[in-house]
Amino acid sequence: MQPDKIVLKTLVTEQQIKERIKELGQQITQDYQGKDLLIIGVLKGAWIYMADLIREIDVNCTVDFLAASSYGASFETSGVVTITRDISTDVRGKDIILVEDIVDSGFTLNHLKNLMYERGANSVRISTLLSKPSRRRVEIPVEYVGFEIPDAFVIGYGLDYIEKYRHLKDVCVVNTDMLND
Ligand code: IMP
Ligand code: MG
Repeated sequence: MQPDKIVLKTLVTEQQIKERIKELGQQITQDYQGKDLLIIGVLKGAWIYMADLIREIDVNCTVDFLAASSYGASFETSGVVTITRDISTDVRGKDIILVEDIVDSGFTLNHLKNLMYERGANSVRISTLLSKPSRRRVEIPVEYVGFEIPDAFVIGYGLDYIEKYRHLKDVCVVNTDMLND
């Protein structure tokens, strides 16, 4: 389906994202002076956000990626988080920021955060471009949030619907009526 058919409305524009990422980058830069920062992106959704975020961070850092899945081809989380691709970095003693596209139920990041501590990380914080607080099913602190959004399914800027629409420049709300046609 063409993006113009599936998009109900634009929720966060490219320009708004850009400005907010600058602020988050400055905040992270202040908080991680002199630390051994490892930034871990959760694939695939976080890759575009992470690419923009790290270029606004002015401290030494390394990056790695993992892929986790809790959804399948549906709008709702299954609650069971599987790691489908793991990092190759030894996290012992590292100060980690997990980077996500969106925190919904919180299951994914809760699982990943616990896993990093089990593996010996010194600290684990979370940065997400988007957060849907009304959907949270597990309490998890999120230190660096781009935008809090209402309960709607969104696509674009890395976020997909069944693997499509990641390339859209804005974050857009999906017209779910179109999907039922
Ligand atoms: P959680 O474990 O429920 O917090 O799920 C987070 C993951 O669900 C994100 O990394 C996304 O991949 C996916 N997700 C949640 N809400 C949306 C959405 O509105 N659009 C696209 N993906 C979403
Ligand atoms: Mg994701």
